[in-house]
Amino acid sequence: MSRYDSFSSDVLIVGAGLAGERAAVEAATQGLNVIILSLVPPRRSHSSAAQGGMQASLGNSAMGKGDNPDIHFADTVKGSDWGCDQDVARLFAKTAPIAVRQMAYWGIPWNRVEPGKRMYDGKEIEEDAEKQGLITARNFGGTAKWRTCYTADGTGHTLLYTMDSVVIKLGITVHDRTEVLSLIHDGTRCLGVVARCLRTGSLRVYTAKSTVIATGGYGRLYGASTNAIINEGSGMFVALETGLVPLGNMEAVQFHPTGIVPSWILITEGARGDGGYLLDKDLHRFMPDYEPNKKELASRDVVSRRIMQHIRKGYGVDSPYGPHVWLDIRHLGEKHINTNLREIANISRSFTGIDPVHDLIPVRPTQHYSMGGIRTNIDGMAYGLEGLFALGEASCWDMHGFNRLGGNSLAETIVAGMIVGDKIAKYTKEASLNVSTALVEEYVRVQEDRIQGLIHNRNGKENVYELRRKMEDILSENVGIFRSQEPLQTAVNELHVLHQRSQHVGLRSGGQGADPELASALRITGMIRLAYCIAAGALARTESRGSHYREDFPKRDDANWLKRTLAYWPVGAEQPRLQYEPVKITELPPGDRGYGEASASAATAKQ
Ligand code: FUM
Repeated sequence: MSRYDSFSSDVLIVGAGLAGERAAVEAATQGLNVIILSLVPPRRSHSSAAQGGMQASLGNSAMGKGDNPDIHFADTVKGSDWGCDQDVARLFAKTAPIAVRQMAYWGIPWNRVEPGKRMYDGKEIEEDAEKQGLITARNFGGTAKWRTCYTADGTGHTLLYTMDSVVIKLGITVHDRTEVLSLIHDGTRCLGVVARCLRTGSLRVYTAKSTVIATGGYGRLYGASTNAIINEGSGMFVALETGLVPLGNMEAVQFHPTGIVPSWILITEGARGDGGYLLDKDLHRFMPDYEPNKKELASRDVVSRRIMQHIRKGYGVDSPYGPHVWLDIRHLGEKHINTNLREIANISRSFTGIDPVHDLIPVRPTQHYSMGGIRTNIDGMAYGLEGLFALGEASCWDMHGFNRLGGNSLAETIVAGMIVGDKIAKYTKEASLNVSTALVEEYVRVQEDRIQGLIHNRNGKENVYELRRKMEDILSENVGIFRSQEPLQTAVNELHVLHQRSQHVGLRSGGQGADPELASALRITGMIRLAYCIAAGALARTESRGSHYREDFPKRDDANWLKRTLAYWPVGAEQPRLQYEPVKITELPPGDRGYGEASASAATAKQ
């Protein structure tokens, strides 16, 4: 009897969130046999936690009038602080309206235009009677038009449930509670994965003509994150560990302005988009002082910095969990809060014990999104290994550069799922699969050795949970919203030591079956490697761009840094190797973003 079960398919997709499922639907619709692997049942994937919406330039709402893909493209490039791939951003902006309408066809109950007048931030807005019933949009940060299509504030939830229904309808195979431990490759081509069943602990081999990583972000490397606990970057580190596949722009880490204190669950940007204010300890609305044009709706990197700057000046509200500011949505009224913002209302009630109909919501910027990930070309194929694809947050496609706009993530999952899913299907139809048993055996043996080594404490007895806590602290304290040489160097030094210690983890538990300590121990080195790539990339980048803000280099430096970081981890190495590639500027030359530090000082100077 074999020591492991084997499965083979045309396409193997790792990750059952929106990006993975949308790509699976594309490939299956084109007649290919698809298997999806997932850590959790698909509907528990982190995509369901996305709240505020999905950007697409439909232009149906009064404040979206005249919108088109050109404006969406320009907003995305400015949002990225000119760090994105403009060809990808163009393709994305063009496709997003099609993707939104297709989701409507599949059953998404998008909020619709309701004709009539209403007040918004002191101004009257009148929705056009002729547009009644068309898909509407709300305001979001860093956009010239209202473009974020939504279903109340549970957009990710409705999108994921709908997409998963399509997956079920198409009969696509899903193996949930399955974790990938390594890719199988022959040095040039990816041939599948070795995985572990999280129910039984047994190993499995999956071989495929195409392998697709869609495992989402790595938010849980940080102590405080809006991410689900499964977001530990596993797809990224198994690709990195081949030594062949680089991660792009890992230093580009997004902090969402409003994580609720103290559980750090997301409080949607839609709350500010719908007219919510940020207040300080004196109940003063401070954002207009810093960002007179966009106020609470400058891009996320800018708003997060402004909040922390204001807190540093002493205007934060003291709490046992550190200083915070307030989000005030009371003026939006009970009906609006309990319908369009009902998820965050319930989160506030359940996790902080306050009712935002009457109370202020305590918020602080919290790690939210990874712009960096597996570097791919415009077709979604990873650099370095043929037959390996990546999409969604796990990838650096790269439409977000150094700052993603709110609402462009859900949109990316669906749009990339369509576009890259089609490229995967085309590639797979031309590909064949020849995997030698000896190669598979070798990959399985490596994983068996790792597991036995951990169970028998062969290399030492370092405590995985202690290492993990230390990694979270290193990143949170030294590689946050404000960065500079000394703390970044500290982070690199400490992560170097932590990486070495992680080779000596041992178990307190028996390591049998579904043992969670073993699962954590199998991940810890990979997670520390990702953290190391983030810190090393941030230390090397001596400029400020988007979310990467260096207090010692506060300006964007296009002369020297209009380039993307590529972090490699050569096999056996103790640290990442950084390389760079130019960021192609195909349409919109670098300029002022129209909000943020440069614009704010210009506006202040004019007064
Ligand atoms: O604030 C939000 O609703 C989050 C949206 C996003 O990250 O795109």
